[in-house]
Amino acid sequence: MKIKKLFPERPEYSDMLGFKCPACGETHVVSVGPKSYWNIRWQFNGDYEKPTINPSVLVTVDIPADVKIEPNIRRCHSFIRDGRIQFLADCTHHLAGQTVELPDYPEEEDGDENNIIFHRNTWNWGRSTIIVAHGGLAVVTVSIEDETPRVAWVSGLSVIGSSRKKGYGTELLKAAISEAERMGASEVELAAEQNTFPERWYRRFGFEERRFDEKLVILGNEIKKLK
Ligand SMILES: CC(C)(COP(=O)(O)OP(=O)(O)OC[C@H]1O[C@@H](n2cnc3c(N)ncnc32)[C@H](O)[C@@H]1OP(=O)(O)O)[C@@H](O)C(=O)NCCC(=O)NCCS
Ligand SMILES: [Zn+2]
Repeated sequence: MKIKKLFPERPEYSDMLGFKCPACGETHVVSVGPKSYWNIRWQFNGDYEKPTINPSVLVTVDIPADVKIEPNIRRCHSFIRDGRIQFLADCTHHLAGQTVELPDYPEEEDGDENNIIFHRNTWNWGRSTIIVAHGGLAVVTVSIEDETPRVAWVSGLSVIGSSRKKGYGTELLKAAISEAERMGASEVELAAEQNTFPERWYRRFGFEERRFDEKLVILGNEIKKLK
């Protein structure tokens, strides 16, 4: 299987398909459902062995120009056609301009206990990173809208019931804050239901009340005060 459903058991992410990019070594994500959580949909031919995805997939990562990284994953732009990946000329990595076979999606990634996987993507309204830890037991999304690039929004932080109180939530929230900084934000905001355990939990990390939205409280702070 070259492309697969990343979170079949999580309704809020059930439309998300991932493929392993042979250039970046990371999973890139597209959403193909009829009503996408992400507000953008790709067309998918339904073939998990020989996928075709339309339109092109653009992934960008904001890494300061003076930081050297290998592979250079700053910009990865591709078409997925009939099980092959066609990298466009504007990619920053070594496969720019080349067309190669899409690899099979690795099975073992699901079972790896200690890894944290970053799924970085550019959508039509901004950018997001889905961070998956402990083989899917803990998930969070960080997104930045193009209109407000200073503020990163952290959403969907969740640890599967049986794995709570082991520090996974703390680990993931810290990873989300670092990722927000890497994406170029200087502040982080998130929402919690008022007067609930998550609200108190977030306040422990230095999140402060910013505004209310019906039953929700929007908490936030500058990244330098959260670290
Ligand atoms: C909120 C959540 C992400 C925390 O994840 P977690 O992995 O349990 O967090 P940690 O293990 O890092 O917890 C840290 C602390 O919270 C405490 N804690 C965790 N769950 C608790 C609960 N239900 N009641 C009281 N304390 C709790 C832990 O004991 C630990 O305390 P300590 O540091 O003093 O020992 C998790 O409970 C969750 O997924 N909840 C459901 C989804 C949700 O509400 N997400 C927030 C959306 S706004
Ligand atoms: Zn890539």
